[in-house]
Parts: sequence; structure tokens; C-alpha cells
Amino acid sequence: MKGTDTSDLWWKTGLIYCVDVESFLDSNGDGVGDLAGLTRRIDYLAELGVTCLWLMPFYPTPGRDDGYDITDFYNVDPRLGSLGDLVALVRTAHDRGIRVIADLVLNHTSDQHPWFQRAQEDPESPEHDFYVWRDTEPPDTSDLVIFHGEQKSIWSKSKKAGKWYLHRFYKHQPDLNVSNRRVRNEIAKIIGFWLQLGLDGFRVDAVPQLLTVGLHDQIENDGLTDPHGYLGEVHAFMRRRSTDAILLGEVNLPYREQETLFGTPPAVELDLIFDFVAMQNLYLSLARGEAGPLAAALRTRPPIDDVNQWVTFVRNHDELALDQLGEAEREEVFAAFAPEERHRAFGRGIRRRLPPMLEGDQQRIRMVYSLMFSLPGTPALFYGEELGMGEDIDAEGRQAVRSPMQWAPDASGGFSEAAPEELVAPVVGGDFGPENINAHDAAADSTSLFNFIRRLAAARRRSVVLGWGSTELLEQPETAVLAHRAALDGQDFVAAVHNFSAEPVETRVLIPDAEPGDELEILVDVGSAGNDAKEPIDAGEHRHRIRKLTVEDDRRVPVALERYGFLWFRPFRLGPDGIF
Ligand code: NOJ
Repeated sequence: MKGTDTSDLWWKTGLIYCVDVESFLDSNGDGVGDLAGLTRRIDYLAELGVTCLWLMPFYPTPGRDDGYDITDFYNVDPRLGSLGDLVALVRTAHDRGIRVIADLVLNHTSDQHPWFQRAQEDPESPEHDFYVWRDTEPPDTSDLVIFHGEQKSIWSKSKKAGKWYLHRFYKHQPDLNVSNRRVRNEIAKIIGFWLQLGLDGFRVDAVPQLLTVGLHDQIENDGLTDPHGYLGEVHAFMRRRSTDAILLGEVNLPYREQETLFGTPPAVELDLIFDFVAMQNLYLSLARGEAGPLAAALRTRPPIDDVNQWVTFVRNHDELALDQLGEAEREEVFAAFAPEERHRAFGRGIRRRLPPMLEGDQQRIRMVYSLMFSLPGTPALFYGEELGMGEDIDAEGRQAVRSPMQWAPDASGGFSEAAPEELVAPVVGGDFGPENINAHDAAADSTSLFNFIRRLAAARRRSVVLGWGSTELLEQPETAVLAHRAALDGQDFVAAVHNFSAEPVETRVLIPDAEPGDELEILVDVGSAGNDAKEPIDAGEHRHRIRKLTVEDDRRVPVALERYGFLWFRPFRLGPDGIF
């Protein structure tokens, strides 16, 4: 690769940050977060090191699935602001070097969308065929529903139409028929509209359902014969309109099916895909205190083309899905981190945030973020993760993790001028409430999680190889330890060693292409041996404290890690190739 590739393929490096606008910052005191509020906090995001802001749906909606039920694809939910506010946000973000992408929900609309209203009323209308219908009583599809416990079938009868319509998600979210050319034209128009307003791409919602790819069921009447061709068509159209816009796909499937959705460059389908497999195995590793499950996942992570990217994450806005694990494995994770029924959702996931699951253990929490930032790929944070926010377990369903952002230590968490009882959702109480966890205090405290994550983001910026390199596991003997590296051309690499155990551990990591005596420079080091202060060492800010490791005769480097300790290192170089 050459230097300019990092700007041409901007999504390979950087940091994605997901915001639920209504929960981020309320600028007008009505208790609901809004686009103007988010715009005020762009500098906060820039300081953290965010390079790509992902907006959850902000479109007009009856709000029965937190905005994923859309009634107008061309507008902004008036509670959140106006199209003008959106443009102001995008422009401000761009000025600070932050791109903006938005959720693109193409699988379904709200049942209140004018298309569906018309589709039900008039079977002869063009809109009727915008949806997927069947005339006869459907078979039992209870095993195919996504929201187990809340839905019984993927077909519901429309009284008006006298037929059943397909809905993979809630009953009030009828699936669009993307095999219909008119629907495709509408989708293209929607994409073109938002690009024209300045968006830099999209997070594509529910890709497997949209394309019926990688699902075990066959949907009668779903007539989509060439799903990959269609996705490629969407991508090509987007690139014609905007040369560096991206599609980031929500594809919670095994690697072998995810891989097919990257397409075959130059016929790209999705530019980026969330790495659900590594995420889920990370939790199994945490539950066991052993690196094995995550190592096994990474070993099978398919290599990808230079233009594509994996997006690594620890949690998102939904339930923490564990459906790629085996049943017994999922039970292990539940037992460790979601022991009570109310911690769980849909029988397959967890509705808690990481810090409460880890009982606030700062060292362990940092180990997890260090790991996430050290994995080859592009990391994505869900708002509030950088503060160590907890969940509101009393909130309904997945809303538990979407509580108001905690900006300041007051009753409304600095989120709004409105009284606590008037907020869009209650502020988290107890140990994880704003008294203890808030951005104001965190920014001022050099030892806070916020500042730690900020330093991790900075370390990544200095290490292009973490975005561009391939994933390699490094041999070492300890079961509690994961040693891996991102490597480019065998020359440049960043390696990281993480201890999943609550016990200190000493190990010897094999660096395959190193020579005895080679020096390695520590990039990030918290709580690892020799770092008495247990302070993060950031080579950029503490040049004089740079520490080195030396490769021994057997091409191994000895590493001692404290409980949940970790260490990143790379070949030591001065001059133009060195870090600064
Ligand atoms: C996936 C989204 O992440 C989730 O929040 C939503 O409920 C479903 N798609 C349906 O749109």
C-alpha cells in the first residue's frame, strides 16, 4: 500500500461511533436529544478520536422500534430537528474531520408508511407489489421469527387486503419486496438524496433478511433471484453518486456467509461488515478466562480484499447477540454475565453494557477495549462506552442500553435542562449513574476510561497496519493469553498480548520472522510488568519513557502480564518509519 491509500480508503482506519440522537444531548429542553445537541458535541467526538459518526435512524417514525420503523425516508423526525439541522451537523462534523453515515433500513417500512397504507387498500396499486404477500394461510413459522417471545409468525394478515404480508421483524414492519424494480428505483432515490445532503455512506440494516442470504428458511413469494447482484448494484450506484461513500453491513452470520457479502472486488457489495463472530467469541473467552474461543474465531476469520474491512465491536445498540455460539457456550456466557432472566433478551442475547457485566473491574474493562482496538479492523463504539456507562435494566427490552448519555454529575446527567421525569428515558441510577460516570469528570481525569480509550485511538492512528494488516495469531504457551498481530508484508506489524485471567501470567511469544536481538517498542501498556505506575504509556506523549523488549535466541519475546494485563508492541525503528 502507499500513503495516500489511507485517505482514499478512509474506512480502513479510524474509529466509528454510533449515536441514538434522541439519547445524546437535548439542546432545547424538551427532554429529547436532537441533532442540534449532537452538533454541539462534535468537538467531544473529535477529541476522542472519532472519524466516522454513525447515526441510528432519525427519520419520521411512529417509534415502535426506536426509529427502525420508518414512515418517510426523506425527512427528519421533527422531535430531533429538521433537514437543516442534519445538514448543519454533517457540515460541522466534516469540518472536524469526521464523516457521517446513517442507518439505511431497506428491509421494511413502518406499517404507517403511505406505501403500505396504499398497498393494503388497493391490490391494483403499484405499491401493492412493494411488499411480499401470500393469499393462503401461512404454515407455522414461529421458529423463523427474530424477536422471539414478541412475535409468533413472520406472516400477518392484513384485514384490509385480506392477505398475509411478510415481516421478518415486528408485525408493524412489513418487508419490502426488493425484487420489484420500482422498489429498487425508490431505494436508489433515497440513497441519492442523503448523499446529496452530504452523508458519507450507510449502515445497512438487516442485510441477511433484506437479501434472504444465509438464512435457512425459504420465503415463498420472495422472488429475489440474484441477491448479490442486487447488492452490487446498490453499491455501484452509490459509488457513482459519491466516490468515497461506504456501505457497512449488519450481517450477523457465520464468517463463510459474511465473506460472500463483501462481493468480489472490483464488484464490491458491502465495504465493511461487523465482526459478530469475534465479538461473540470474545465474550465466551471472557467467561472462561481463556483465549481459546476468540483465537479459534480469529483463526477462521477470512482474509479480505484491501478495499474491504471488518468492524470490531464490543457492544452495539441491540441485545448483545450470542446466536453464533453453540447452545452450551451461550449458557456459559449467560451464567457469567447475565445470570438473571431480566438481563437477557429474545433467548439469545444480553441487554447489559460491559462495565456492569464485569462488575466495574477497571483493569478487565480496559483489557477488553485494548483488545478490541488491537484487532485488525476498524473499531466501532456505541455512545457512552468510552465513559464506562451502565444499563437501565428496568427499561423495556433493548432500550436498556439506550439510556441518556451522561455528560455531567446532575440529576438529568447533563443530557437535558428538563427534569429527570421528563426525559425521553430515565437516566441510569446507582453506581453507574452520572454522579460517578460522566463525560465532564472523565475528560478532566487523565486516568479515566475516556482518556484511556482516547489514547488507544491515538495509538491506532499511529499504526496504519492495524487497519490494513492481516490477522495472525502468535504462538505462546499460556491458555489464558491471546497473542496476535496485524502484519503487512511481513515487515511492519503491531502485536498485542492480552491476559484473560484474573491471575498474573508470564509467557514467551514467538515472533516468526524476527531475529535474535531485534528490538520491539511498546506502544500501549497498562498494568503489565515493569509499569509500576500502572499508567497507560502512550509513546507519543511520553517519548522519554519508551520501553523496549528484545527478541531472544529462540525468536521469542518474554512478556509478563498482570491480571487482565495487556501490551502492544511493534518493531523498534527510528527515522521516517518510526513512530513519533
Ligand atoms: C436491526 C437493528 O439493529 C434493530 O435495532 C432493529 O430492531 C431491526 N434491525 C429491525 O429494523
